Amino acid sequence: MDNLLTGLRAAAEPTRLRILALLSHGELTVSELTRILGQSQPRVSRHLKLLCDAGLARRIPEGTWAFYRLAEDGPNRHLVDALAELLPREDEATSPDRARLAEVKQERARQAADYFRQNADKWDNIRSLHVSEQAVEAMMCDMIGDAPVAHILDLGTGTGQILRLMADRAEKATGIDFSREMLALARANLDAAGCHNAQVRLAEIQSLPLPDDCADLITIHQVLHYLDDPAIALREAARVLKPGGRILLVDFAPHEIEKLREEHAHRRLGFSESEVLRWCDTAGLKVDEMRHLPPASADGLTVCLWLATPASTQAHRHRDELQEASA
Ligand SMILES: C[S@@+](CC[C@H](N)C(=O)[O-])C[C@H]1O[C@@H](n2cnc3c(N)ncnc32)[C@H](O)[C@@H]1O
Repeated sequence: MDNLLTGLRAAAEPTRLRILALLSHGELTVSELTRILGQSQPRVSRHLKLLCDAGLARRIPEGTWAFYRLAEDGPNRHLVDALAELLPREDEATSPDRARLAEVKQERARQAADYFRQNADKWDNIRSLHVSEQAVEAMMCDMIGDAPVAHILDLGTGTGQILRLMADRAEKATGIDFSREMLALARANLDAAGCHNAQVRLAEIQSLPLPDDCADLITIHQVLHYLDDPAIALREAARVLKPGGRILLVDFAPHEIEKLREEHAHRRLGFSESEVLRWCDTAGLKVDEMRHLPPASADGLTVCLWLATPASTQAHRHRDELQEASA
């Protein structure tokens, strides 16, 4: 009773309900919420603190930023689900908020796209700044093994380096990226390397132009930290993964190199194990193997590799049922 009353009291205020409605679309920073709500930062922070104290939201500090999201565990998680259900889709207060949220998201996507457009030709140097590429690639190959597969899909393929590394073990290899500039380089690189079974396509990895169950192996190498909501990309990857297929995720462990945000458009400063496990779980995937590669130099970063498979054919079936129900 006490928890429920605290949760209900915290939610029973217009701005806090608006915040809950916004967080039901994904995690946001205080400054993004401030912009969307049109209120001062101290006021928004106060509301957020109340929501967190009542177990309705969670604060995830990361370097000098903090992300807020709806609580997915704790005593009030069912109240959070119920409130998210009850919040009106169309309403005088929440509709303009949603429009401003869409603007914030578009601006973020534009910033990331601009960064890749401007840095496409420098990417092969930038990618090796903080990690030993050879060591990461060797570990990726070791985790995957060299048994041939029918179709490899590389999400956020950039200049196509991972496709070049993997293409010879597949009948067909496809790279997806939303940057034309990156893809122009990828095409040239794949051509020069003689990877004639590889092709690249311009697309958003959060809504892939691909049918269900079409890929045997999916690689997502150093892409998730640019995304607004990595969980969406993982769900989409799980959708196109064949039953019995595998997904290899490679990204940074949590770090504090803030300048990667300012200079290199990173949204997230690495990911904790628990966060990746949670995304996989909600995407119907289970992590079979997890490895860490410590930095080769003092200013380097730890790289994490996760190999995941569909949790069960039942999970696939459940996913199909959900899709049918929502169609
Ligand atoms: C850091 S680069 C990594 C490229 C490649 N995986 C590699 O390791 O060399 C990230 C790539 O993801 C692409 N990317 C970022 N967000 C994307 C999105 N939402 N949809 C498609 N591609 C995206 C960028 O254009 C960029 O080429």
